[in-house]
Amino acid sequence: MNWEADPSKDLFANDAHSSESTLGGALTSGDLDIDRTLRPQTLADYLGQGRVREALHVHIDAALARKEPLDHVLFFGPPGLGKTTLANVLAHEMGAKIRITSGPAIARTGDLAAILTNLEPGEILFIDEIHRLNRAVEEVLYPAMEDFALDIIIGKGPAARSIRLDLPRFTLVGATTRTGLLTGPLRDRFGIIEHLDYYSIEELSQIIRRSASILGVSMADDAVVELARRSRGTPRIANRLLKRVRDYAEVKAGGRITSEVAAEAFEFFKIDSLGLETVDQAILEVLCKQPGGRAMGLATLASAVGEDPSTIEDVNEPYLIKEQLIERVPTGRRALPGAYEHLGLTLPGF
Ligand SMILES: Nc1ncnc2c1ncn2[C@@H]1O[C@H](COP(=O)(O)OP(=O)(O)OP(=O)(O)O)[C@@H](O)[C@H]1O
Ligand SMILES: [Mg+2]
Repeated sequence: MNWEADPSKDLFANDAHSSESTLGGALTSGDLDIDRTLRPQTLADYLGQGRVREALHVHIDAALARKEPLDHVLFFGPPGLGKTTLANVLAHEMGAKIRITSGPAIARTGDLAAILTNLEPGEILFIDEIHRLNRAVEEVLYPAMEDFALDIIIGKGPAARSIRLDLPRFTLVGATTRTGLLTGPLRDRFGIIEHLDYYSIEELSQIIRRSASILGVSMADDAVVELARRSRGTPRIANRLLKRVRDYAEVKAGGRITSEVAAEAFEFFKIDSLGLETVDQAILEVLCKQPGGRAMGLATLASAVGEDPSTIEDVNEPYLIKEQLIERVPTGRRALPGAYEHLGLTLPGF
């Protein structure tokens, strides 16, 4: 089982799932160490997402005043926006322990029963990718969330009977990339549902400044903004870019990140003015080459760019849609004028 009991220990080991590859390549242990040092621990250090932060503040204060655990919380939003971070922040602010697992890791109902019966009162159970729980496991979760009870069937056939075990009051924190992936009954059992949206350039600039100061990197103000612009609204990408540009600056330019050094590094790493990388660029190119700007089905698009359809849906396209480069239509995905402009192509007759 992929969880730990002590928040100061190696809680983030389960973070290296597929969406971490937004900037290509597998995570090294050095990456994980840096992720850990950059990850905010408190609500005050968690930058941006003002509305979500204020709402959580109210719920935390109310729960602490009542000396009760927090209501169950669901976070949804694209990868790398800080869902796992927020779950850890909640634990820190509540003074609670946190156990971390994920939907695919809980294969059988017995796995979930073992986790639930080992919880301490007030503990936070974080289930990442909660939409990937199987139905049988999900059904065990319903009474656990609602009544803090576990229904167990003992015996088989006519002699079988069900007994109900009491569980401690705990807080379930779930994370998913899209709420649409969750079943209605599961979604309805969360008292607090918060949507994380892409960060503004200003918010990303604050995050980059904070990370640069933790890493001891010297950076010019205009370079911070240039980095923020290429971070695709995503703190994880901002931190990754910072580390790559820092490496470039150390090896090629004496260490300090000026806007010139940053521009050279972007050129060197082939990161374009919108922060798009190879797969994103390939998606735009394939769609722009469609005769008459016609739409292309997701499966065809995915095989054309050599990516998994679900990765395109969860990781790549939300940002391209937000930037109005592509759109979803009933027949698939279609390039918008902005995509042609970005690639320097002429528009087909729209
Ligand atoms: N609000 C924030 N302020 C500062 N840094 C942040 C913030 N949100 C996220 N980060 C940084 O971005 C990294 C990625 O965040 P996190 O792992 O929480 O994303 P996630 O939403 O759980 O992504 P995934 O869906 O891929 O699991 C963190 O390691 C952290 O350093
Ligand atoms: Mg996560």
